Amino acid sequence: MDIHEVNEAEMPAMWTLWVRALHDHPQAFGAPYEWARGVTDEQSRDLLRNIVAGEGFLLGAWVEDAPVGMLHFSRQQGEKFRHKGEIGAVYVMPEQRGGGIAKALIQAAVGRARTVAGMAVIGLSVNSENTAAIKTYEACGFTRYGVEPKGMRVEGQDIDLLHMTLII
Ligand SMILES: CC(C)(COP(=O)(O)OP(=O)(O)OC[C@H]1O[C@@H](n2cnc3c(N)ncnc32)[C@H](O)[C@@H]1OP(=O)(O)O)[C@@H](O)C(=O)NCCC(=O)NCCS
Repeated sequence: MDIHEVNEAEMPAMWTLWVRALHDHPQAFGAPYEWARGVTDEQSRDLLRNIVAGEGFLLGAWVEDAPVGMLHFSRQQGEKFRHKGEIGAVYVMPEQRGGGIAKALIQAAVGRARTVAGMAVIGLSVNSENTAAIKTYEACGFTRYGVEPKGMRVEGQDIDLLHMTLII
């Protein structure tokens, strides 16, 4: 298994994985599947450029050169918030789960975030019923600090969001 930052050439294949993630897990992610599946290869590369321009990064996991997992890190904007980052879009395809790929992605992201000047805190939000994800984040040192009732609405169903944090 190889983990590295996704480059522009790799972005369309990684986007295809992201579209699958959004299709299969609408209650796990904030981005809508209908939007994602309409994004062209060039638009996906633009999105990657925007991530990088904002001092964020997109990590990918590959097994035998095939993309199998991903993680997005973004830096908050504004002078008083730039010490905080956010992890999102954590996904491992079903065939590869249970083998430590998500943990490796998160650990790599934390290590990479530590190299960002002034970065001090990483936050994330997760569906409060998503046990696999919560266990994964806790295994990486994240702690719970609150539940936001009705934090997300998916096809008319309200979902409570658990907020977690890691001081790095
Ligand atoms: C959540 C997800 C990313 C975990 O990926 P994974 O590669 O299977 O996770 P790992 O193998 O790295 O497991 C990491 C830790 O979480 C635990 N864990 C993972 N899945 C679990 C499950 N279903 N039940 C209990 N614990 C679980 C593992 O035991 C491991 O803990 P340990 O290191 O103490 O043994 C994956 O299930 C997934 O993509 N789910 C769908 C999308 C999603 O929900 N993403 C998160 C959005 S916030």
